[in-house]
Amino acid sequence: MTRPALIAPSILAADFARLAEEVAAVERAGADFLHIDVMDGHFVPNLTIGPPIVAALRKVTKLPLDVHLMITNADAFIAEFAEAGADYLTVHVEACPHLHRTVQSIKERGVKAGVTLNPATSLSTIEEILPDVDLVLIMSVNPGFGGQTFITSCLQKTSSARAMIDRVGSRALLEVDGGVKIDNAAQVLAAGADVLVAGSAIFSSRDYAATIAAMRAAIQPSSTTPPRVSAHR
Ligand code: DX5
Ligand code: ZN
Repeated sequence: MTRPALIAPSILAADFARLAEEVAAVERAGADFLHIDVMDGHFVPNLTIGPPIVAALRKVTKLPLDVHLMITNADAFIAEFAEAGADYLTVHVEACPHLHRTVQSIKERGVKAGVTLNPATSLSTIEEILPDVDLVLIMSVNPGFGGQTFITSCLQKTSSARAMIDRVGSRALLEVDGGVKIDNAAQVLAAGADVLVAGSAIFSSRDYAATIAAMRAAIQPSSTTPPRVSAHR
């Protein structure tokens, strides 16, 4: 499988006092998306950023803004995030009782729509909406914080999501978020992910470009280090 791996640095792990510099650094280092974690202190036990920061980032980068909404009332904020310049708006199925309406509302504003699930939420919750979405995000940690350990059962879930996306002929990107490092990138890509989100792995590294390149190359045949692809169960 030679699907190109896309890398989405999560700015949650960046130095917020130097945010524009950090974003420029990952852009130069070869990032494909900029992953922006929005938390409301309600759906998840943490607070981060809102539309003004997204609008500010829109002015300093050409990278697609991949906005991950970990908020209870997503419908009330879609217009603001769309106006702020989000390219992708991804909502949690656990927080959206009228998911179809929410997804349509995102798309009506010319923004790509993503859906995401917590580790304990079944993939069956997105089966009906799959033909309508541009991105499926598999959470491989419980959302709320960066720097957590990858939950290995999410590899099997990623494979199942890949199969589901391919079965319905969807063109949705499959993204995996949480605890992704150079060491497990090969397994996540082998499971069928298109996009790897990585916060601490990139922003805690000395050389952003080397880290991004190592993740992207993790399962490519030209890679000098053979990938460590183990069984998923
Ligand atoms: C978790 C966030 C993730 C997080 C990833 O709630 O959605 O995007 O920033 O951080 P790492 O890569 O450090 O696990
Ligand atoms: Zn995220």
